[in-house]
Parts: sequence; structure tokens; C-alpha cells
Amino acid sequence: MMRLDKLLAHLNFGSRKEVKELIRKGYVVVNGETVFDDDFKVDEKNDEINVLDNEIKYEEFVYFMLNKPDGYVSATFDNHQPTVIDLIDGYERRGIFPVGRLDIDTVGLLIITNDGKLAHKLLAPKSHVDKKYYLKYDGKYNKSFEEKFKAGITIDDGYTCLPATFENIGEGEAYITIREGKFHQVKRMMEAVGCEVTYLKRVTFGPIPLDESLKEGTCRPLTEEEIKILKSE
Ligand code: URA
Repeated sequence: MMRLDKLLAHLNFGSRKEVKELIRKGYVVVNGETVFDDDFKVDEKNDEINVLDNEIKYEEFVYFMLNKPDGYVSATFDNHQPTVIDLIDGYERRGIFPVGRLDIDTVGLLIITNDGKLAHKLLAPKSHVDKKYYLKYDGKYNKSFEEKFKAGITIDDGYTCLPATFENIGEGEAYITIREGKFHQVKRMMEAVGCEVTYLKRVTFGPIPLDESLKEGTCRPLTEEEIKILKSE
């Protein structure tokens, strides 16, 4: 059970003050009865709630696919830079956060949710969720890259990465698939083979590919099917 005004605020019908106003004006009907009391308790999962004749549906967990643009921080709050959460309009009060991090200048697929349990599972080191990146780089391609990535690249702090995949797709362009998420990992792996990443885009997260119809800076809810697939990862 939860307070009606809190529920409506969560669902972005307005601030707590604005939704109290909606209730007092008699715009909210619960199980066929108009409710004027903002501290009225509702069963958010089972009660039939109408606001201005529209039935509302409360979903505890929300899941989005964002095509992250350059210049946004993968965090819920930052003192200086805009965050990826600023790009998900209307869900500020739902406790959403990005599942993992992309560097500020990395673009592409980022999952945003308020499902902490799923996020935790996907990010746990032992989950080994594959993340595939498209990159452009300065430096010379060498045939040994495929083997070196497969064997495990040792990066600047001495850490040897888990086996990864390097796919050469042309002059200064490649796909790299990693199963970990160390800080700046792809950039540091490329540095270790004498190259510098100039553009980085995540194109898959586990079994979920980036929806290429999503413009950078836009998001869409994950489909039921995508949520199911992610949960079974
Ligand atoms: N590797 C990087 O170097 N940066 C990212 O944002 C993601 C992976």
C-alpha cells in the first residue's frame, strides 16, 4: 500500500504539491470512488486508479535503452556536467540509474533502470556479460592484434585483461568485445598495442544490440522481450 499523492508523484503527474491539487479537485478516482484525501492509501498493484478518466498503470521497475551522446556523465548526479539521467525525461523521481558506466566521450548503448537487483547481477564480475564496441583509432593495425586480445592484454597498471575479441574492419576501425568493465578498458587495451582510440561507441550490451533507429541522446523503453532476455543472462 502507498499514499495516493506519492504514487501519482512517482508516476510524474507532477510534484507532490501539484498532485495534491489534482486529488483535492476530484480528478482522481480509485475503484470507482472519487478520492479527495491526498493521504488516501492505495494498493498500487491491484487498485483501479483513474486520473481525469485515464486508467493508470504502476510499474515498479522501468527499463530504458539510451543511445548515449558525447558530453554526458554516466552518473545520477554531477556538479559540473549533464548526466545521462537528464536525457530520460519525466522519470527523475523514479530512482533510475545507468547500469555501468561509459566514459563521458563514449557514445552508444547504455541501459537505464531502477531495478537494482538486475543491475547488480549484470555488473557482477562473474556474470561476464559481453560488451561490444565499435572504435576508430590512430595507429597501425597489426595482424597480431587478434591473438594478443584473445590471450589477454596487459594494460598500464599491470592488470592482464580477460580474453577479448579484436575484429579488424578496415583502416583504423575495429570491433572489440570485452567481458569486464575496467576503467577506460578499451582505450587502455588499445594503448597497450600502441594505438589511440579516437571514437568509441558501445553497440551491444550482453544479448541486447543498440537499436540503430535511436538517435544519439534519445531513449526508448526496453521491450518485454528484451527485459526477459536480460533477466535470463
Ligand atoms: N572502454 C573505455 O575505454 N571506455 C568506455 O567508455 C567503455 C569501455
